[in-house]
Amino acid sequence: MRIVLLGAPGSGKGTQATNLVEKYGITHLSTGDMLRAEVSAGTALGVEAKKIMDAGQLVSDDIVLGMIKNNIESIEGGFLLDGFPRNLNQAEALDELLAQIGEPIDKVIFFDVPFDIIKERLMSRGRSDDTEETIEKRRKVYESETAPLINYYTKQGKLVTVEGVGEVNEISQRIFKALS
Ligand code: AP5
Repeated sequence: MRIVLLGAPGSGKGTQATNLVEKYGITHLSTGDMLRAEVSAGTALGVEAKKIMDAGQLVSDDIVLGMIKNNIESIEGGFLLDGFPRNLNQAEALDELLAQIGEPIDKVIFFDVPFDIIKERLMSRGRSDDTEETIEKRRKVYESETAPLINYYTKQGKLVTVEGVGEVNEISQRIFKALS
């Protein structure tokens, strides 16, 4: 199974990814986690990426596409993309890459969560990009860059909307049902 998790920052993509990879035995690919690993390792890329992430902006397409390409081609048994693609250019590049290897996306799960709930979740988490100012910036970037992917994947007939409010396991059950 090849799945994309789509949703605003804080909508629960990473949380649900844990339950999905366990249930389906697929590989979790999170561009945010990959970038944070670079930050923790103190690489040149990590130093540069941290500034961009803390400002709530998107890291360049070339960097994230490179990270995805390096990982995706060697995966066997399916994957779950979390935080990628994040704009139309990334989505088109992903489709092209997957067409080349004959493994298109099966489904895109869109997490529908009101912003006031998202803000509450992120303010109580406390990651370095979870300040009030950066949360608002990330929301704006999401709305202008990422939200158009809802329409992109609807047109492909792949989008499934899941209400992302409630208990974590209850939301997981909704996703399992949507994928069955
Ligand atoms: P990324 O790591 O992808 O973060 P994000 O999209 O901002 O999303 P979050 O991790 O904040 O939220 P989430 O939807 O995964 O929710 P989570 O499960 O954590 O990206 C970070 C940055 O990296 C970007 O801003 C950008 O700079 C860069 N980047 C990454 N990918 C990129 C790309 N493709 N292109 C360019 N730049 C890129 O949940 C959030 C909180 O809510 C947690 O505390 C969780 O415990 C809690 N929670 C979750 N579900 C529930 C629930 N049901 N009830 C109560 N609390 C809940």
